[in-house]
Amino acid sequence: MLKTPDVLLLLCLVGAADALYKQWIPNTNYENKSNWDTGAVPCGSDIVQFSAQRRVSVFLETAHAVQELRLPVDGEFILCEGAGFYVVSGQDPDCGEGVTAQFNDSDSLQWFDPALWQAAATQDELQGGRFLFSVHEESVPCQYDDVVFKALSSFRVDTSSSQSSIPVKSVSVLGEMFESRSEFSQYLSSRSGRLQFHGSTAVTAGNPGCGDPSGCECGNSVNRQRICSRVTCVSPNCKKPLFPVGHCCEVCGAIISIHYAASFDLQSYRQRIHQLFLQWSQYETIQLGMSKVFKSQRLMGIVPFGSAPKIQVVITDGETGARSEALALEILEDARSHGPKLGIASTDLQASSGNNQSGGNTGMVVGVVFGVLIMVTLIITVAALIHKGVVRMPSMPSVPSLRSFGRKTETVDLGGSLDHGFNNPMFDDLSMIPDLPALNGNEINSISITQTGGVYFVNPVYDENETDFNA
Ligand SMILES: *[C@@H]1O[C@H](CO)[C@@H](O)[C@H](O)[C@H]1NC(C)=O
Ligand SMILES: *[C@@H]1O[C@H](CO)[C@@H](O)[C@H](O)[C@H]1NC(C)=O
Repeated sequence: MLKTPDVLLLLCLVGAADALYKQWIPNTNYENKSNWDTGAVPCGSDIVQFSAQRRVSVFLETAHAVQELRLPVDGEFILCEGAGFYVVSGQDPDCGEGVTAQFNDSDSLQWFDPALWQAAATQDELQGGRFLFSVHEESVPCQYDDVVFKALSSFRVDTSSSQSSIPVKSVSVLGEMFESRSEFSQYLSSRSGRLQFHGSTAVTAGNPGCGDPSGCECGNSVNRQRICSRVTCVSPNCKKPLFPVGHCCEVCGAIISIHYAASFDLQSYRQRIHQLFLQWSQYETIQLGMSKVFKSQRLMGIVPFGSAPKIQVVITDGETGARSEALALEILEDARSHGPKLGIASTDLQASSGNNQSGGNTGMVVGVVFGVLIMVTLIITVAALIHKGVVRMPSMPSVPSLRSFGRKTETVDLGGSLDHGFNNPMFDDLSMIPDLPALNGNEINSISITQTGGVYFVNPVYDENETDFNA
């Protein structure tokens, strides 16, 4: 535990960051035909109409002929060089009869709609259209992401939320990147800023990026309800649908949980998986999302005792999940043979076919065994106490059977393995539980029972001086 600050410092110095670029898809460009109710960009015979009450910022790349232009009360055109309007008298022969073309309303497009964003690992990949799949919560910009509004375009986004702000690392608008909180809030209060961003919550740039090479938690679970309200789920078509952390819907496919060690680097592992597997044609239809999530942990699958970070790899193919599972098995195989080099301590697989397995070391199994041992020990100690008369049971029919149980334990050899104590590797590996002092091993490894009568009892399994508890 003492080493944690050093480890963190080291990570900061290395400076490798895992953050993504998230790009807003819709735009309010004049030249985009899907922005017109006619489905076409207006031409010289058309009457162009913007709703009087709608505020809008509209980007124009070239010059356009119109018959008539009806403008809103509040709005702006952003003109490229040479762009503008000219009026043709009479009918434009290239345009035909002429119609009234209405500019679509973009007021309803929301920041927290996961369908309106695309993600990429680098600017180049964003421009090259090599997008990454993410679970719904992470499709929307995370707190350490770079947000991009395409350079040659205008837009309008509703940033309403129940939070006080929407923190992100940076925001790029019209080719200009804002990395400081004050500069961006200045932009937001400008004319363009007010037309482009509306709604109750302000986006704040200048949030520190993710300094941990193993990744950072997205931070969007506070907005989960808002995000998932925009999503319509289709009912999955497989035996055991899976529910990835951060996703709004069940999916068919596979989820790999990676318990990582200190040397794990999320960005290079993501690259490795893409290079090794995803470029092959048999995996063309696969969607693979990889991120750090916090999953709540349970003793024996029942008793919650906090949450631990892990890398969640969601693999889905939109169908029954068979192809996803094949890929998941290949990834597990790779993790098994190169685990130490990649910083992978262990892996678990959940597949929608029902085929689950644990690989690498046995974190989960150990957790379960550990839980069972605690229960058994509790029962034995209580039985022993009753046997010795330290604790009196009220007269209940179950006393005799407890007594006999207590006697039986005399013949059970509980020395050996139990005396060695029990190492749960999940608590030994520092990198698995950074920043979670509540999970400090001691609190979990030793159980103390205080009876109301004042008898204090330390679980003998973990006390080396007291192994004979029938004496
Ligand atoms: C036009 O707008 C639609 C929806 O807003 C968007 O999906 C599409 O990418 C845009 N097309 C271009 C060429 O920008
Ligand atoms: C624009 O409006 C038309 C007709 O109302 C609609 O079919 C189309 O989907 C709208 N486009 C966008 C991007 O909202």
